[in-house]
Parts: sequence; structure tokens; C-alpha cells
Amino acid sequence: MSDVPRLVTALVVGMGWRGKTYSNFALDFPDRLKIVGIAEPRKEVLDHCQTAYNVADKYCFQSWEDAAKLEKFADCVIICTLESEHMAPSCAFAKRGYDILLEKAIAENAENCKEVVRVCKEEKVQLVICTVLRYLPESRRITELVNNGVVGDILNIQMIHHQGNVMYSHCYIRGNWSHVKTGTSFLIGCCHDIDLITQWMGDRRCISVTSFGSNIHLNKQNKPPEAGKMCVDCPVEEKCQFSAKKIYLDPFKKGDMGFPVNLITPLVPDIEGVTKAINTTKFGECVYDLGTEQLDNQVVNLMYEGGSTVSMSHVGITSRQAGRTIKIFGTKGEIESNLDGSVTHYDLETNTKSVWNPEPLKVKSQLTQFGGADFHLMDTFVDSVARRDSSRIPATIESSLYSHLLTFEIDRAQRENTILAISPELGVL
Ligand SMILES: NC(=O)c1ccc[n+]([C@@H]2O[C@H](COP(=O)([O-])OP(=O)(O)OC[C@H]3O[C@@H](n4cnc5c(N)ncnc54)[C@H](O)[C@@H]3O)[C@@H](O)[C@H]2O)c1
Repeated sequence: MSDVPRLVTALVVGMGWRGKTYSNFALDFPDRLKIVGIAEPRKEVLDHCQTAYNVADKYCFQSWEDAAKLEKFADCVIICTLESEHMAPSCAFAKRGYDILLEKAIAENAENCKEVVRVCKEEKVQLVICTVLRYLPESRRITELVNNGVVGDILNIQMIHHQGNVMYSHCYIRGNWSHVKTGTSFLIGCCHDIDLITQWMGDRRCISVTSFGSNIHLNKQNKPPEAGKMCVDCPVEEKCQFSAKKIYLDPFKKGDMGFPVNLITPLVPDIEGVTKAINTTKFGECVYDLGTEQLDNQVVNLMYEGGSTVSMSHVGITSRQAGRTIKIFGTKGEIESNLDGSVTHYDLETNTKSVWNPEPLKVKSQLTQFGGADFHLMDTFVDSVARRDSSRIPATIESSLYSHLLTFEIDRAQRENTILAISPELGVL
């Protein structure tokens, strides 16, 4: 962590899972970040967070629109609403002069993504997208190896996103993204992956895309005949990997207040809240009855100019949660990593193998999700705002925009079942 140049003040828009996560940085490092404003429609959450962060009444709002009516009162805004509610607040706060930390995805469609980037550039504010995997020490190490030419020219990248049975059922069945109108499974789950691939491919542009995918498992036809409507009364619950008791209640009883237990009650989970949620809400309903429009498996092939290829798979129902498997094959060497504590480099010229491990974090932080990537993101963002210097941000906004637009093209190739030529103008505003 760098020297602290000054205290940064922030307005947080959307105190849901991600908003609360990033705000915890202010509790961990009160000399670096202070939350001075909150916009959150759920009154009990707003009140709770107002007390936790000691925010003045005049800067607590039930919608971002009211906060945007005021002259700028914080250095930056942290926007953590759902993607359908990203474009309007981003543009409004950019016009007020705020630096912006914007949750991925930039927006729910290509046009809105471009508009956000266009307005932020015009207003000359910093816009940082929360593609948190770019901030992981492991992915930074891979970037360093690739950029230093250690593996030579990239021949092929293979990437698997293991979404996780818990994550898939919580996010895409019981939670925010069961319907495509809030973003497709590929956009929500895999814009991180396409973003990393974009980073490693550097200046090379993708020229062609194919993608296939389907939703095989979680639907009414696959519901076990004897299963019940709610997990708490289901006679086969013990055998079900998606049991609400196993996903929410059992971890809570073991003292785990993290994802996804923390997402089924508005405030800090307690036994009454968790029990009520799994007895009376969709968080306790049979996932086979609920179903989803999102895909549980998808494969993507990308052809890049110069001939390099990439294959990427997204699998919903897996044992690892938000796991990654990465292999990069170059003309001089190979890189392998699961982004979970090591990066292996094989040097084909010397026939040697070396394993790199990141140093343990030297500071204590609550931002442990995604292997600590959330911490590294906030550390970098707060520092950039304090110094008014975005050179430590690992993604240029052009590169973030490009990776999002490519993600939309991949979705299109899958929906239209076609080989899609990618325009060299992709990402040009
Ligand atoms: N970076 C990552 O790895 C990662 C992980 C999960 C989610 N996300 C992204 O983060 C974003 C938020 O997801 P989440 O899981 O925190 O969702 P969430 O539903 O927990 O939070 C959204 C919050 O926005 C609030 N909100 C709605 N309308 C509002 C308005 N008009 N003004 C102010 N607040 C408003 C809601 O009340 C809610 O508290 C999404 O874009 C999602 O894709 C990113």
C-alpha cells in the first residue's frame, strides 16, 4: 500500500452487496476514505448505513437523482446499483465533476456503455470499472510475464470460469439476475474474463467470434418428482446441492456472514432474518420451480488478428465458486494459473518451470472477497483519486470499453448461432 496523500471523501450509490463491500474500506482505513453521502432506496438500510458511517442527514438520499441535484460534495462517487441503473447516474455525476468507481458491467447494453465512457471523457473525470480480477496480484503477474515477452507471441489462451453451484443458484435463480433484462449470464459472469483476455492480448484486436450455450439443468422438467416447493419442507432437501438450508442456514449457524448469507436479509444477518428469508421468500424456494433464463454452460471461440486464438468456457454448476482456470500458450513458454495463489511459468527454451506466489497482504481488511481483489481495487482507486493520477489503474477506460463491447458481440454470436466478424471499429467512440 502506498503513502497516504490525503483523505478521500465518497458518495455511495446503492448500498447492496457491492456498495457495502467497498464502503467497508472506509471502516478499515478511516484515514484514507470517508463515506460522506449515501443514496439507497431501502430506508432501513439507509438508516443503518447512515449510523455506521456517521453521515449527515442532508447527504442521505433515497435515490441517486436527489444526490445528483446538489453541487458536488464529495471527491468521488461509488456506483453500485444494478447494470440497468448505471448509465444515468454515471453521466449525471460525471457532469457534476465526480471521479467515479462504477461496478461492472459498465451498462446493460453497448450503446449505454459508450455513452458512459463518452460523457466521462468529455467531463475529464476518472472512470474506473470494478473488473476486480485485474487487480489480483496473480493476474498482474501474468500481465507482467506476457508484457515482458517471457512467453513469446501468444498462440492460444484457454480460460474456464467455474461460476459455482452456490453462486449460480443464488445470483441467477434466486437473486438479481434470473431475468435477462438485468443482463445476460455471460455479461454478468464473464465480462471479467473477457476483460483479462483483452488485457493479455494487448493491442491485438479480435476479428471473429463463435459461441454456443444452453440452459440444461435448472427447470421444472428436472425437478425430482418428490421435491417440495420450499426447501425447509422438502423431503429430498438433504440430497440437493441447491438446498436453501445448506446454502444459507448452515453457513450462518457456523458463523459465516459472508456471501451469500449476507444477501438474504437487508441488514446484518440474524437467525430470525435468515429463517424468515428461507421460509417465506424466493431464497427458500425450489430452484427447479424458479428456473432461469440464464445459461448454465457456454463456450466461446475468439480469433485475433495475427492468428492467435482464445477459447473460453463458462460453467454454472461447479464445485469452485467464482473459480478460474487459465492457460496461456506462447511461442517461448506457457503460463498456468487458477488465480488462487500461484502462477506457474514453463520456459520452453531452458526447459524449466518456476512457480510464483504473491506476498500475503500486510494490512488487515474486511475486503477478502474474490481472493482479496476487492481490497486491491479500493486501495488503487482511493489512491488514484487522492493523487488525481490514474496511472496505477491497470485498465484504461478504452480497454474496459472494448472488453465490454466484445462481451456483447459474444452474446450476439450465441443468440444468433453465427460466426460473427468483429468490426475493427469496435470500441471507437
Ligand atoms: N465486481 C464484481 O465482482 C461484482 C460482483 C457482484 C456484482 N457486481 C455488480 O455490482 C452491481 C451491484 O450488484 P449487487 O450484487 O451489489 O446488487 P444489490 O441488489 O445487492 O445492490 C443494488 C443496490 O442498489 C440500490 N438501488 C436501486 N435503485 C437505486 C437508486 N435509484 N438509487 C440508489 N440506489 C439504488 C438497491 O436498493 C440495492 O441496495 C451490479 O452491477 C453487479 O453486476 C460486481
